[in-house]
Amino acid sequence: MADFMTEIDFESFRRLIYDESGIHFSATNRSILESRLRERLREKKLQTPSEYYAILIKDKEELKVLLDSVTTNLTRFFRNQAHFDAVQNFVVPELLKLRATERNLRFWSAGCSTGEEPYTIAMMLREILPAGWKYEVTASDISLKSLMVGKEGFYTDSRVQGIPEAFLGKYFDKRPNGFQIKEDIKKVIRFDYHNLKNDSGQRGLDVVFCRNVLIYFDEAAQKASIERFWDAMAPKSFLFIGHSESLFGMNTKFEFVKTDWACFYKKSI
Ligand SMILES: C[S@@+](CC[C@H](N)C(=O)[O-])C[C@H]1O[C@@H](n2cnc3c(N)ncnc32)[C@H](O)[C@@H]1O
Repeated sequence: MADFMTEIDFESFRRLIYDESGIHFSATNRSILESRLRERLREKKLQTPSEYYAILIKDKEELKVLLDSVTTNLTRFFRNQAHFDAVQNFVVPELLKLRATERNLRFWSAGCSTGEEPYTIAMMLREILPAGWKYEVTASDISLKSLMVGKEGFYTDSRVQGIPEAFLGKYFDKRPNGFQIKEDIKKVIRFDYHNLKNDSGQRGLDVVFCRNVLIYFDEAAQKASIERFWDAMAPKSFLFIGHSESLFGMNTKFEFVKTDWACFYKKSI
């Protein structure tokens, strides 16, 4: 059987996806790209990747659909609990001292997928912030399908595993096949379409979570995103990346912080 995608097709698609999102497809994960393209061609009733490419370069909406289809959206509530322990035991106590005048904390979950990460942050802050303190969480992604799930805030029984019983009872309403996040928590989160390739326009953030996203970027795209985080963050603020990710060798201004709970980064100035 002839190859579905020629070498030239592969190069064109991977260049387009990289330029638009920073997501890097290497020759070893070419088959993932191929299977996503096959699916999209079937849906669009097209025969060849080059026909689809011709549509993509003219149609921004279709490009969003393609980007959505090539993302990996795996996530879960309380993923890497150590990070939340560090927020609770180190980051928030620091911020309570540093922001005592404003009494408002701003978090960003960048690459939030279907919402489990920002909801975890929101529930935790609700538990630990003293009375009189406010907080907001921005949650952004390039996957529109994932953002819709997050905005809806409904999770099937299997997806709520990992949420402590007490949180489940307090912050969710039981439905026949799962759990619905309560309005009270939902309203502190602003879900937004945002491509990390661009400046989000946010400034003065206290904590940025960008976990398990940079892993899909090449080094140049990772560095560019990290620099944009720096600009978006307040002096004396904190950055969490995935536990298999690192800024090592990237020559950034972030300071590495090692605590009893987890490692993360600090913008000191
Ligand atoms: C594996 S999920 C990680 C979700 C969550 N942060 C966690 O750690 O559980 C990666 C997410 O990054 C998003 N993503 C990938 N490239 C992106 C980009 N250029 N801009 C914004 N989000 C992106 C994907 O759509 C996906 O939802």
